[in-house]
Amino acid sequence: MAKIPVSMIVNGEKVGPLEVAEYTSMLDFLHEYLNLTGTKLGCGIGVCHACTIVVEGEDGALEPVRSCINNVGRFNGKVVTTVEGQAELDAAGEVVALSPVQQAFLRNFSFQCGWCTAGFVNGATALIDRLKRDPAPADKVEEVIGEALGEHICRCTGYVRYFRAVREVIESTPGLLKEAE
Ligand code: FES
Ligand code: FES
Repeated sequence: MAKIPVSMIVNGEKVGPLEVAEYTSMLDFLHEYLNLTGTKLGCGIGVCHACTIVVEGEDGALEPVRSCINNVGRFNGKVVTTVEGQAELDAAGEVVALSPVQQAFLRNFSFQCGWCTAGFVNGATALIDRLKRDPAPADKVEEVIGEALGEHICRCTGYVRYFRAVREVIESTPGLLKEAE
């Protein structure tokens, strides 16, 4: 099978150049080549968003991307964050502090089996990043969360707690909301 060269930054570490089978999905690349198994396979066809990771755009904006339906080649040269890269670690690799989204999910007991959680963490992280650049009207928080995370499927149906936790982060972080329209 033909191979393609792949290099990228994943969770702050340079990866590659590696020769990767050309039809490898980003999800399989994370699992099989990098041993990063926190990104979960749900449907495998782009519907459930369990496999969502975060990619930095040219302007530094964070974009949520489904890793199951995107070829690894799409990420060549990109800066990528998976759920393993969300918490702050010390030099020994021990968790020093969870991200604000992770802390809110814990406080709210948002997840049950946890299969969808990595996708929700990354989707919510990209949303918070977007609101830093483009604050939402204070009376539209529910709608904004629904638009950003409404396609994430939780088979344990934990939507209310996920949405509550994300709302908590948005409302407690200065600068993410503007006056109601
Ligand atoms: S596993 Fe990727 S969208 Fe469902
Ligand atoms: S917590 Fe089980 S699928 Fe969402």
